[in-house]
Amino acid sequence: MASVQLDSNILFPLLFVVSCFFIVRSLRAGRKDGRRAVLPSPPGLPIIGNLHQLGRGHHHGKLQEFARHHGPLFLLRLGTVPTLVVSSVSMAEEVLKTQDDVFCGRPQQHTARGLMYDCRDIAFSPYGERWRQLRRIAVSHLLSTKRVDSFRALREEEVASLVERIRAASGQRQGVNVSELVITLGYTIISKAAFGNKLGGMEPGVVREMMDEVADLLETIAVSDMFPLFWWVDWATGLDSRIKRTASKLDEVLERALQEHEKSSENDGKAGDLLDDLLSVVREGSEGFKMDRIDVKGLILDMFIAGTDTTSKSVEWAMAELIKNPKEMEKVQAEVRQVAGARGVLEEQLGTMSRLQASLKEAMRLHAPVPILLPRETIRDTKLHGYDIPAKTRVIINAWAIGRDNEYWENADEFLPERFMHNAIDYTGKDFRFIPFSAGRRGCPAIAFATRLVELALANLLYHFDWELPEDQDVESFEVVESCGLSPTLKSA
Ligand code: HEM
Repeated sequence: MASVQLDSNILFPLLFVVSCFFIVRSLRAGRKDGRRAVLPSPPGLPIIGNLHQLGRGHHHGKLQEFARHHGPLFLLRLGTVPTLVVSSVSMAEEVLKTQDDVFCGRPQQHTARGLMYDCRDIAFSPYGERWRQLRRIAVSHLLSTKRVDSFRALREEEVASLVERIRAASGQRQGVNVSELVITLGYTIISKAAFGNKLGGMEPGVVREMMDEVADLLETIAVSDMFPLFWWVDWATGLDSRIKRTASKLDEVLERALQEHEKSSENDGKAGDLLDDLLSVVREGSEGFKMDRIDVKGLILDMFIAGTDTTSKSVEWAMAELIKNPKEMEKVQAEVRQVAGARGVLEEQLGTMSRLQASLKEAMRLHAPVPILLPRETIRDTKLHGYDIPAKTRVIINAWAIGRDNEYWENADEFLPERFMHNAIDYTGKDFRFIPFSAGRRGCPAIAFATRLVELALANLLYHFDWELPEDQDVESFEVVESCGLSPTLKSA
C-alpha cells in the first residue's frame, strides 16, 4: 500500500459539508452504543479520520507506534472505512485461526477491480465458492510440490546465469546492483514457468514493464475506496483512465500469450508450462467447476503480482543483514561452502543447510516481505476480545510488528539466526510469532515455490562471492532500513 491519491483542492469544500452529516451520525451511534465496549482508537479528524496520520509508506512502523499507545487491537478510520489493526500474537491467532472463517474476506479495491478482471483472480477475490475452486486449481496445478519440483532445472539454470552476470561485472571491478539482478531472476523464473517462451511475439521486457505498472497501480489507494461518494475524483485525477489504459494493454499481452499456447497445443498436444496446464483445465473442466479464459488470466497475473517482489525482497534482506553482521556471514558461508560441490549449490543440498535456512527465517522475521499482509475483511458480524466487530470491517495484521515483539523475541531488533536453529518454527503459519506468509485459509499458497527459489539464490550468492559494502560505507554506518511501499525495499546496500 503506497501512495494515497487524494486531491485536497477538489475535496475539502465538499468534505466540509458532508462532515456535518457524519459527525451527527457518529454522535447518534455513540449514544446508542453507550453500553458496548468501544475499541480503542487514535483521535482522528472529521471525514478523513486517521488517514493523515498514516502518511506515505512505512505504515507498519506507524501502526506499531499506535499499538504501543492503544494496545494490540485498535480501530482506525481511513476515510469512511473502519479498519481494525491487529498487532499481537494472540490476536493474530484469534483472527487467522480461531475465527478464520469470519476474517477471510478481501476488500474489493478500486484498482484491483479495474486491473484484475473485476477481482476474478485468487488474491483479490471476495471469499466464496469461486475463490475456493480457483485456489484449489492453483494449488493442485501450479503450486503443488510435484509442479514446483518440475521447475528445478529452470531455477538452477537461471540462478547460474545470475551468478555469471555478477561474475562478469565484478571481473571488470564494477559495482553490482544485486537488487535489480535478483528482481530480474524472480521475474524470469515466474515468466518462464508461466509462459515458457510462448509470449505471442511480445518482448519479455515489454511484459515486465506491463507487470511493473500493474503492481504500481495496485499499490495505489483510490479516493473511492475511502470515500465511495467521491468516486468521481478518481475520474477527475486521471486514475480511472490510467487503470483502463493499463488493463487494456495487459489484456492484449495475456491474450496473445494465450492464443499462442492454444495454437501450439493444437499442434503438438504437449503440456509444458503453467498456461498449458490451465488451458487444459478450461478444456476438460475440473470437478464440476467451469473455468474460463478470464480465470486463467487472473491466475497467471497473481503469480507475477504476488510472486516477484516478495521473493526478491527476501533475498535482498537476508543479504543485507548478513553483510551487516559479518560473523553470521562467515558462519553461513562456511556451511554453504562445505556442503556444495565445485559447481555451486544444487537444490538437493539445501535441506542440509540449517544455518542458511535459519538466516533466511531470521531476515524474514525482521523484514516480513509483506509487512502488513494483505488486507482482510470480516464476512459477517462477530465478537473479538469482547468487542463487536461488524461485517465488512477491514482488517490489517501487522506481521512486521509481531515479528519484533519483545514479549516473544529476546533482543527482538537484532539479527540472531541462531534462534531459529533450536526450534521447529517453519513458514506454514502454525506459530503465530512468525507469519511472513500469513496463515489460515487465505494464507500464501506458494510457500514451497517461494522458499525453493529464495534459498537457492541466496545459497549461490554466498557460495560464489565474498560480499562487502561499497568503499564509502562501514558496517557500523550501514543501516538496514525500510523504505516505503507495500513490500518495502532495501534503502542502502
Ligand atoms: C517470499 C515470498 C512470498 C511471501 C512472503 C508471500 C506472502 C504472502 C502473504 C502475506 C499473503 C497474504 C495472505 C493473507 O491474506 O493472509 C500472500 C497471498 C498470496 N500469495 Fe504469496 N508470498 C510469497 C510468494 C508468493 C509466490 C511466489 C506466489 C505465486 C507464484 C504467491 C501467491 C500468492 C497468492 C495467489 C496469494 C493469495 C491467496 C488468497 O487470497 O487466497 N506468493 N502471500
